Amino acid sequence: NIEVVVAPELTSCYQAKGKLVVIIDVFRATTTIVTAMANGVKEVKTCLEVDEAIALKKQGYLVGGERDGVKVDGMDVDNSPLSFLDGKYADKKFAISTTNGTKAVETSLDANEIIIGTFANLTAVCEYIAQSDLDVLMVCAGWKGKMSTEDLMFAGAVIATLPEEYCSTDSADIAKSYFLKYALNYKDKLDTCEHAFRLKKLNKQENIDFCVEKDLYTIIPKYNAISKTFVL
Ligand code: MLT
Repeated sequence: NIEVVVAPELTSCYQAKGKLVVIIDVFRATTTIVTAMANGVKEVKTCLEVDEAIALKKQGYLVGGERDGVKVDGMDVDNSPLSFLDGKYADKKFAISTTNGTKAVETSLDANEIIIGTFANLTAVCEYIAQSDLDVLMVCAGWKGKMSTEDLMFAGAVIATLPEEYCSTDSADIAKSYFLKYALNYKDKLDTCEHAFRLKKLNKQENIDFCVEKDLYTIIPKYNAISKTFVL
């Protein structure tokens, strides 16, 4: 079955242990990670703390991310998928620390498998879940413990694509029903959600438009427990 947790602060209530966890932060961490890896970045290390990420520069990592949507001093790049589009960082290792997305990874570390999901790799995520025997926990990054429209929308899009039997829990049913309500105009809905307004105030409309596009890539970044990084 599939369950959806609306913020990483609640992951322990749903228990990641033994499950396939899908980390979701549509605006923008998981879109940035998928885009970076689809454009040649060879591994991604998610860091809870900014200092931990910046310290990795010494090991040759490109360092990026944000707090409250804004690049932190000492980081090389913003938490923007667009920075990776020209393949400028191909073959780099990327360390990322963000307000909520990297927390979602940190609270899921006892999972059996962890993958990265967002609209940019929607179909690939659905196919990956369909071939797995594991129960699935979709961990939404949300915003500082609160739920976010964009992450619930993506979780619902996945569940709506899978066969009916996957939708056997209250949280899966709620996410699916929510997506189906907006399926034809989900982009308009996401353009007016809380985090879209935060990003608009920071002049990041292009980020919003990119993050809502479906199936730009077919890759699935997967957590490797030995290297403690996401790889393909
Ligand atoms: C987060 O982790 O909360 C985000 O990715 C925020 C953002 O950069 O828009």
